[in-house]
Amino acid sequence: MFKQVLKDIKEITRPIIQGGMGVGVSGWKLAKAVALAGGVGTVSGTAVANLLADSLQKGDKDGSFRKALASFPFPKVAQEVLEAYFIEGGISKEKKKKEIPLWSFNPARILIALTICANYSFVWLAKEGHKNPIFVNYLEKIQMPHIYSILGAMLADVDGVVMGAGIPAFIPMVFDDILAGNTLWYPVRVTNHPGKYVHIKFNAIEFFEGPMPEMIRPIFFPIVSSNVLAEKLLKMCPGKIDGFIVETDTAGGHNAPPRGQLQLDIEGQPIYGERDKINFAKFINLGVPFWLAGSFAKGLQKALGLGASGIQAGTIFAFTEESGIEFELKQKAMALIFQNQASVFTSPKASPTGFPFKILRMKGTLIEKELYNSRNRACSLGYLREPIWLNEKILFRCSAEPVADYIHKGGCEADTIDCMCVCAGLCATVGARNNEIPLVTTGDDLSCVLECMMLSKCGLFGDINYTAKDAIQYIESL
Ligand SMILES: Cc1cc2nc3c(=O)[nH]c(=O)nc-3n(C[C@H](O)[C@H](O)[C@H](O)COP(=O)(O)O)c2cc1C
Repeated sequence: MFKQVLKDIKEITRPIIQGGMGVGVSGWKLAKAVALAGGVGTVSGTAVANLLADSLQKGDKDGSFRKALASFPFPKVAQEVLEAYFIEGGISKEKKKKEIPLWSFNPARILIALTICANYSFVWLAKEGHKNPIFVNYLEKIQMPHIYSILGAMLADVDGVVMGAGIPAFIPMVFDDILAGNTLWYPVRVTNHPGKYVHIKFNAIEFFEGPMPEMIRPIFFPIVSSNVLAEKLLKMCPGKIDGFIVETDTAGGHNAPPRGQLQLDIEGQPIYGERDKINFAKFINLGVPFWLAGSFAKGLQKALGLGASGIQAGTIFAFTEESGIEFELKQKAMALIFQNQASVFTSPKASPTGFPFKILRMKGTLIEKELYNSRNRACSLGYLREPIWLNEKILFRCSAEPVADYIHKGGCEADTIDCMCVCAGLCATVGARNNEIPLVTTGDDLSCVLECMMLSKCGLFGDINYTAKDAIQYIESL
């Protein structure tokens, strides 16, 4: 066994971790600002291939992505990406942007190149010019890009990988294979397949026509929502788990479903009960450090008192100046929060992942029934498609795609009701899909945003925001 160089967990962790927020809410600018202000900045690695293709087609106005790509260790591949997507001066308004190919078990070469280069660029830009820690976040549920995404992030020397929305037991194995120069593989779940999993494989040395540079193993933090899952992961994971993010059901984004039979409140939100309560004290006995997430922006001291090493916060950072949410949408959401009219709905049906998903109730977004109904169902990004074994073939289906297509692929009509195209909605929220209706997710506790706005004397209609540095100072002040 060759000797791996490992990141030192003490050097690259901090009491405040800014949670990964996809798609593009925690881009490189936010992650870098947090890292510079003394926290751990986390880039969201979800769908960054689309974000890179979008920025390049808009002309990469400030030149950041071209600068990052110029430092990519395999210039021929970076050039392929630029040739496929970069448009000098930006695409004209009348023209339609080029879509990127969809994921499959045999992904197109340009999709592989774009995914590796995008993960590399986001991490590289977040790390540029300082030595503070930068993590990357992925959703386990979106399995096919993993080996390519992680390789890209490790080529840019990412400090940590944080992963939730599933059981990410195989991720340390991917680190090992990357460091050993092996062919990379990942078991992707295929519904109804006799073998349950089908492997996606990638030989990076053949692809790049040369050996990999030396890399350092990042630390690995799975996100868990129960003691049972943490214990299970520690037992079944073939590699090292360096720590846990322990996330409650009030956190923004996707939540773990309640245990047992799903029950809904009168508004139609999942009811969480005693069995879903996390026993924080028991985490100490596991002997690995943990950070608490889900309405902990105002609870750093409480978390430390519970034996945690700190907190992971998302919502408070989603409304900072540096977050990727489009300026006007952010201002509208902040006005709602300021007027005490913001509320959050935990939808058990909106996300094609099947996980509950939190949505800010806000006009002009997909949560409005008329807007939801006005959208022609289509699946053009495809990240949440479920691979399914049907008639001796692997097909891909998504409960937000046209209903007839979903049913044709063996899907159940009931799953399509109220199901949203989360991929397109979230991309629209960060301005990467102008023809789509945005969708805004936040955690249940918005009071931290309100208090940061008041402390920073935010104007209601637009000119002043608070920054990541303000948010860090606020968290530390309580
Ligand atoms: C806008 C937004 C997007 C998020 N997206 C993701 C994501 O892509 N992956 C993930 O693991 N967690 C995601 N989260 C959860 C955060 O990483 C973090 O754990 C959570 O926000 C903590 O709870 P808080 O919102 O109460 O601070 C998201 C949260 C928000 C607010």
